[in-house]
Amino acid sequence: MEHLLNNKVIDIEISGIRKFYNMVQEIEDLISFTIGQPDFPTPEHVKLEGINAIQNNFTSYTHNAGYLDLRKAASQFLLKKYGLHYSPENEIIITVGASEAIDIALRTILIEGDEVILPGPIYPGYEPIIRICGGNPVHIDTRDSQFKLTAEKLQPYLTNKTKCIILPYPSNPTGVSLSKQELTEIANLLKEKEIFVIADEIYSELVYDEQHYSIAQDLKEQTIVINGLSKSHSMTGWRVGMLYAPECLTKHFLKVHQYNVSCISSISQKAAYAALTAGINDAEMMRKEYIQRRAYVSTRLNGMGLDFVMPNGAFYFFIKIPEYLHTNSFDFALDLAKEARVAVVPGSAFSEYGEGFFRLSYACSLELLEEGLNRIDEYLNKKIHVD
Ligand SMILES: Cc1ncc(COP(=O)(O)O)c(C=O)c1O
Repeated sequence: MEHLLNNKVIDIEISGIRKFYNMVQEIEDLISFTIGQPDFPTPEHVKLEGINAIQNNFTSYTHNAGYLDLRKAASQFLLKKYGLHYSPENEIIITVGASEAIDIALRTILIEGDEVILPGPIYPGYEPIIRICGGNPVHIDTRDSQFKLTAEKLQPYLTNKTKCIILPYPSNPTGVSLSKQELTEIANLLKEKEIFVIADEIYSELVYDEQHYSIAQDLKEQTIVINGLSKSHSMTGWRVGMLYAPECLTKHFLKVHQYNVSCISSISQKAAYAALTAGINDAEMMRKEYIQRRAYVSTRLNGMGLDFVMPNGAFYFFIKIPEYLHTNSFDFALDLAKEARVAVVPGSAFSEYGEGFFRLSYACSLELLEEGLNRIDEYLNKKIHVD
């Protein structure tokens, strides 16, 4: 019966991150720097609201877009943090993680043959959905611009088929973000063009040097802002995302969301309310910790002579694999896991423009980072001497 299935789904592969993880998980005493979620527990007061929701029988369907007080809190969150106004009544949908927001936005926007621009290397969660919709992903190589998409780079890729651009900053896997000036230049290029921007800002609360700026400040009519609590409040398993867009778009996104999931878990909604109100600054503690870890990791990587762009957000380093190893990113990561017992994600998991790099997540304790980096150091020393 398999041959009867939709070819577009058959042609999709499982993500490179998962593929790699499956290959190395049996290795004993493996230190994993592959993790894409915070290593902190969900804040206690947020967990309590989830428990209270169950005990108070807040266990039924809610409004499809999420219960109104939660949407009001989501609206205030974006206003207070990034100066963006979205009406809680009709411009916000609470989604099943940022993942569902990406899915419903792309499925509502795209028709067969549409082009979607993706700055690479990039998070692998967009391309398969674009393909299922019959769209064509168009990757732009950002390796020679410090992993940043610039207006200059973008311009030659705009065609009459371009329907949408994805701006995933701060970026997974590079940790790089775009400044206000850089985003405004992109906005000026796109203004009055019939092109959507999906601004995936799931890491907006984890920004270190410069403040986070949203392109929606310049380009609100065309932009769909995606955010969520997975990273900011260490709530990956609660599955809470937020989608913000002008009403003329949101009313259509809501239909796809409704027929897909009806609404997100009512229990998670109550927890999310606590996170976005009393816990609006909960990410601060984690942010401070990540800043320390980032400093430690960058010092160690420099000490090993490794090449990387200093990340300004999220919790990843995207590191160049030394030329002297003469290898590709998958073989490198596999060999490192087997010989040094350290798992990192091969850059090729983040599109062809991630080849030649590996992603190291510092969402783990300083002790583990120290031990894992010692192992990487020893591994590289051995390889240099063998050569
Ligand atoms: C850039 C980016 N967008 C979206 C997601 C998905 O987030 P969620 O777990 O809230 O669905 C991730 C998860 O790693 C991510 O890195």
